[in-house]
Amino acid sequence: MHSDRTQVAIIGAGPAGLLLQQLLRLGGVESVVLERQTRAHVEARIRAGVLEPGTVALLEKAGVAGRLHREGLVHEGVELAVDGRRFRIDLRELTGDCVTVYGQTEITHDLFAAADAHLSPIVYEAEHVLLHDLDGERPYVTWEKHGVDHRIDCDHVAGCDGQHGASRAALPTGVTHLFERHGSAAWLGVLADVPPCAPELIYAESPRGFALASMRSSTRSRYYLQVDAHDALEDWPEARFWEELARRLGPDAAAHLTPDYALERSIVPLRSHVIEPMQWGRLFLAGDAAHVVPPTGAKGLNLAAADVGLLADALIAWHKGGGASLLATYSGRALARAWKAVRFSWWFTGLTHRAAGADPFDLQLQRAELDQLRTSRAAQTLFAENYVGRFA
Ligand code: APR
Ligand code: PHB
Repeated sequence: MHSDRTQVAIIGAGPAGLLLQQLLRLGGVESVVLERQTRAHVEARIRAGVLEPGTVALLEKAGVAGRLHREGLVHEGVELAVDGRRFRIDLRELTGDCVTVYGQTEITHDLFAAADAHLSPIVYEAEHVLLHDLDGERPYVTWEKHGVDHRIDCDHVAGCDGQHGASRAALPTGVTHLFERHGSAAWLGVLADVPPCAPELIYAESPRGFALASMRSSTRSRYYLQVDAHDALEDWPEARFWEELARRLGPDAAAHLTPDYALERSIVPLRSHVIEPMQWGRLFLAGDAAHVVPPTGAKGLNLAAADVGLLADALIAWHKGGGASLLATYSGRALARAWKAVRFSWWFTGLTHRAAGADPFDLQLQRAELDQLRTSRAAQTLFAENYVGRFA
């Protein structure tokens, strides 16, 4: 058994784990990241792409925002299309803030580059990760790699290993409460090297279902369609996807679509979970390990970053003699923000998606709320504040 020691053992090299490691390093706290997959596997993931100002600020604090500012697209508004009729919500005018379009894949690359530059230790292909003695003062983590058993002793464990990770499994039953919601729909996503059909994102509600026109750059687009949760990629040949996308986005956007082959296609279900509390003993959860939101509100990555900002400050305070109060209150503070993001994400999903077999009365309520969002400054201000991540 190989043994080692660090101050914080971070489980997972996704955005949460990698960002936490860099923020801890800058605060003088040592950490080791334990990642189940290879680096290439992690770097190849295609995920979200809209950053709140708070997330950009944290990436700046971590010293990894240089390329983001050079290549990211600053968006001052978003559009909604209701049965093809579009209206814009002016984020900048309503909140003074905007969002930045920059793929999570790029953030991962930037964080890996920082880890390389600062020799931040990351163990890849760490199998059978297990967390031990979390309720004591000397927790430790074990794993296996290439048939060799390893152990690392630490002061704290950060569970940044997503919704299927080892950290969630380490929480004792009876201590936590899992809140879950499973939607009846899913998102079929396509990434293609074609110019975006519009300068800003378009969230489209139509009798045929939801569609989203997003982007990664001026030459790379990201499109989504609401599909049934039981659909498979085989049910959606590329020609069918582009034809349906055009119908749902409406004629103006459709006229600017340039169908081409997909670099990547995937179907993800609309679902949520939230674990309370997000900490137990010396284990602290952050990101998807603690909560998953439907992608409609673009909150997954931003919530992960918000958790990490709180957790990094709390761990640095503890390790630098600033006491344990920030750690003791971490879960409550993180959950207060998480639930507001979960609420917004499900509200926005319900507003823009067509539930299978929707009650006609509910459809009328949906259309009335969309019309109020189109005409009411107050409604648009609340939307804009949620979208930029300003959860009062
Ligand atoms: N042991 C070690 N590593 C693990 C384990 C395990 N048992 N289980 C999962 N992992 C790793 C995964 O391989 C992944 O690299 O933990 C990492 C978790 O990363 P994410 O799932 O990306 O979660 P997070 O860092 O919280 O970022 C949330 O990522 O998936 C998107 O939509 C999500 O945008 C959101 C963001
Ligand atoms: C994306 O570009 O992947 C994206 C953008 C906005 C969302 C969800 C996903 O709400």
